[in-house]
Amino acid sequence: MASSKKTVLITGANRGIGRETARELATRGFRVIVAARGEDKAAEAAREIATETGGEVEPLVLDVADDASIQSAARAFGERHESLDVLVNNAGIFPEGESSILEVDRQAFFHTLTTNTLGPLLVARFFRPFLEKATEGGRIINLSSGLGQLEDMEGDAPTYSISKTALNAVTRQLAAKLKDKGIVVNSVCPGWVRTEMGGESAPRSIEQGADTVVWLAAEAPSSVTGQFLRDREPIPW
Ligand SMILES: NC(=O)c1ccc[n+]([C@@H]2O[C@H](COP(=O)([O-])OP(=O)(O)OC[C@H]3O[C@@H](n4cnc5c(N)ncnc54)[C@H](OP(=O)(O)O)[C@@H]3O)[C@@H](O)[C@H]2O)c1
Repeated sequence: MASSKKTVLITGANRGIGRETARELATRGFRVIVAARGEDKAAEAAREIATETGGEVEPLVLDVADDASIQSAARAFGERHESLDVLVNNAGIFPEGESSILEVDRQAFFHTLTTNTLGPLLVARFFRPFLEKATEGGRIINLSSGLGQLEDMEGDAPTYSISKTALNAVTRQLAAKLKDKGIVVNSVCPGWVRTEMGGESAPRSIEQGADTVVWLAAEAPSSVTGQFLRDREPIPW
């Protein structure tokens, strides 16, 4: 099925910043793959976004914490598409009830890392063959957080913060490794955004939260790689 449309895959696109990113990129003419960790969630979100935008939107089941799910999602994607232009690693968790680095246990730490850090890395790994075939170069966008900035490690969400610091390291490593494959890789801090994760008192709208992600997917020059950005500008690691 030949088409000049660009294809973007967004993990955790059934709600929050991921869903808004899907909506905006569908409006801009991208073919949008709405990935979610349940068949019903993916199908319902894809149907709703297609109706809202009139765009081409497809569901895909993908649990980023489960290797078998990532691999079967890559297989299912490959049955329908040859290439992927943009991968948005958006899915993430903010563990409830964390208070102090001194109380972290191994299992809680691993649970956060496996979703927030290893998830994006392994999704990038298994979708890389498709990103390499993007005609104008592939793009990977990792949803990180200011709480992962090493210059500010005083917050009370230890496993979340560390998982995002490590995700930033994943961004740097992938950016270096994929440079000669024409794939750019960046981290984004969306700011504190009113979603289920951010809560109602967050100062930023969901559109503001998605802005830099949409810009990196659709507009940013391909010279932007290996960076950590907020409001379309680099910020300290
Ligand atoms: N909101 C903020 O203030 C803020 C600030 C900084 C960074 N971020 C980052 O931005 C990203 C999006 O945040 P958000 O505020 O939109 O969060 P959200 O409203 O809580 O949505 C999170 C999304 O991730 C999905 N998800 C969680 N675990 C998953 C898994 N194992 N496999 C697949 N999908 C999974 C959720 O799916 P289910 O519906 O199945 O749970 C949901 O679609 C996250 O990476 C977050 O860390 C957010």
